[in-house]
Amino acid sequence: MSQEPRTLSVNHQEGKATFEIGNAFYRPHTKFVRDLGILAAASYQQETGRLRVLHAMAGCGIRGLRYALEAGANWVWVNEANADLHDRLQRNFAQHLDASKYCLTHIDANRLFFDRYNRFDFYDLIDVDSFGAPVPDLSTVLWAAKFRGLVYLTSTDGRAFTGNAPQNCLKFYNAYARSHPAAHEQGLRLIMGSLQQQAAIQGRGIKPVFAYFTGETYRVMMRFVPKPQLTEDNYGWLGYCHHCGNYQQVGWRKLGRTLCPYDGKNPVVSGPMWLGDLHDRAMLEKMIALAKSWEWRGHLALLQVMEQEADFPPYFYSLKEIGKTGKLNLPKRDALIRKLQQQGYRACTTHLHSEAIKTDASFTACIETAQAMS
Ligand SMILES: C[S@@+](CC[C@H](N)C(=O)[O-])C[C@H]1O[C@@H](n2cnc3c(N)ncnc32)[C@H](O)[C@@H]1O
Ligand SMILES: [Zn+2]
Repeated sequence: MSQEPRTLSVNHQEGKATFEIGNAFYRPHTKFVRDLGILAAASYQQETGRLRVLHAMAGCGIRGLRYALEAGANWVWVNEANADLHDRLQRNFAQHLDASKYCLTHIDANRLFFDRYNRFDFYDLIDVDSFGAPVPDLSTVLWAAKFRGLVYLTSTDGRAFTGNAPQNCLKFYNAYARSHPAAHEQGLRLIMGSLQQQAAIQGRGIKPVFAYFTGETYRVMMRFVPKPQLTEDNYGWLGYCHHCGNYQQVGWRKLGRTLCPYDGKNPVVSGPMWLGDLHDRAMLEKMIALAKSWEWRGHLALLQVMEQEADFPPYFYSLKEIGKTGKLNLPKRDALIRKLQQQGYRACTTHLHSEAIKTDASFTACIETAQAMS
């Protein structure tokens, strides 16, 4: 263990936590994703009256600190593989929490998950903020999760999801990702599908809480439930026709004999992935109520968009693609949404792309609508 000076040199603040960073990993600009985790954790705490957190990859410890100070966690297991960070983590936690409220370990997260499982010590929230893809922890994390507890995963590896490194997608998620305009949503759905499949192996299930693409990284919060959730309908394949821009869900029994219904061409097919809801509306409502009462006004717009898009089809259409394929000027997003709604379609904005829409109308119908509007 390193011999760092024993003096407390607090040099940063986020939320209610003051902490030292030193050479630990910390990115101030990802505060927003930590805020979402805090809102979900606090909603869970209000719902159940308890919150035991396993912070599996702590870095400087900011998440664990904030779960305790802001979400009401009554116990935090802080783990960080790099033992050189011990003294810094110890100082960061000791200045805020009584020693009976946390413990600090330095082992591989997988060992910790199985160790907790072996001791029947299951957690209300497990936070796995890994570098790159969340593997191999994605296949192990659920062993330490309590039923109805939450798991918060990160992936910073967009290449595996967007068709740029399909072999990595195959290795990490047991799925094949092809390139198409809604590939970032596919990234969230590949993580969700993979975790769902892991839950299914245990005879259990997971339900979405929220899934957030930041523009760079992928953040997925899911709830572990005892009842199996995976079905042929919610875990499967997404087809995209590069000729006309239409998407379709492809049934397991239709694999290999699926054609685009609009032009008879062969779509590219990605999956298997999660095709069900992207977020849980009931949980988002609780998070919105909390954000309002805490005056976290900057979070409301995102949470409200998530609430709207929660149960839409598993893809979106960018206005750029609509304009390009329809040989049109870029249609106005909100006007196009209104027009589609007037025609009886469901349509809304999406957090995944500010210049895109989600709708149950086909891409072809969107182009026709945009053409009629222009
Ligand atoms: C992305 S950083 C965590 C940042 C922190 N959660 C935050 O929000 O600032 C990932 C941390 O996990 C640690 N780590 C990586 N692999 C690990 C493993 N298998 N088990 C435990 N810790 C690990 C790294 O040393 C690093 O400090
Ligand atoms: Zn087509």
